[in-house]
Amino acid sequence: MCFDVFHVIFVCMQKILIANWKENPGTLPEAKKLFSGYKKIRFSKGVKVAVCPPVIFLPELVAPKSFALGAQDAFWEDKGAFTGEISPKMLKAVGVRYVIIGHSERRINLGETNKMVARKSRKVLDDGLVPVVCVGEGLPIRKRGIVAAKKFVLTQISKSLAEIQSGESVIVAYEPVWAISTNPGAIPDSPESAVEMIVAIRAELKKLGIKAKVLYGGSVKPENARGFLERKEIDGALVGGASLDPKSFKKIADTIKIKSKNNN
Ligand code: PGA
Repeated sequence: MCFDVFHVIFVCMQKILIANWKENPGTLPEAKKLFSGYKKIRFSKGVKVAVCPPVIFLPELVAPKSFALGAQDAFWEDKGAFTGEISPKMLKAVGVRYVIIGHSERRINLGETNKMVARKSRKVLDDGLVPVVCVGEGLPIRKRGIVAAKKFVLTQISKSLAEIQSGESVIVAYEPVWAISTNPGAIPDSPESAVEMIVAIRAELKKLGIKAKVLYGGSVKPENARGFLERKEIDGALVGGASLDPKSFKKIADTIKIKSKNNN
């Protein structure tokens, strides 16, 4: 952050905002409507945006210049006897540039392991796309204290990025599972405690030699976005619930402006 006036954050480096629609909306016409809401947004130069709809809708949605398309998962093989899987190359062919890997909902509901996340992330990178690798501790671990939570998250980092070489770049999203809006009793993390974890994540990434942008995710909405995005340690946000309303997403994006000569 360079400086801050009138509730707008002026940044020197672009922040990244990723809209994770999850399994929403339920139909193609609704997806097209939501997408056209995004197309109407004039994003400031301070943000780089990617929108991740369900994979089935991707071929029907053409990203404008103002934002990129993303996917919510990809497999580690190009083709073959892998029922239900989609390769990064297939995603690339329909315009995808970013791929969320290892979201907690996949880790929890489908048993996705760090090893699987590592293979998927490697393949996504090999095929010229940007992996957005998700990590984050659940409530039982967090209840044991911050030391236990850090240990868990840093193990996720080293194992999930085990196939990324020193010098390569990825995006990491720290999403404490207990802060994700749809989880029962969810409460957003405070910017201070998110920063504490992200500082530890950055130190681990440095140790591994991996260049990463580190995002925060978990109930980020217009009312609290500024608190997270104004922190220099946080490179952006992965937004779930609030991304289903383009007006809310725009409000989150509008908290950020790039520092230009006129802002001096
Ligand atoms: P949320 O979801 O913003 O609804 O908490 C974030 C995520 O799960 O990626």
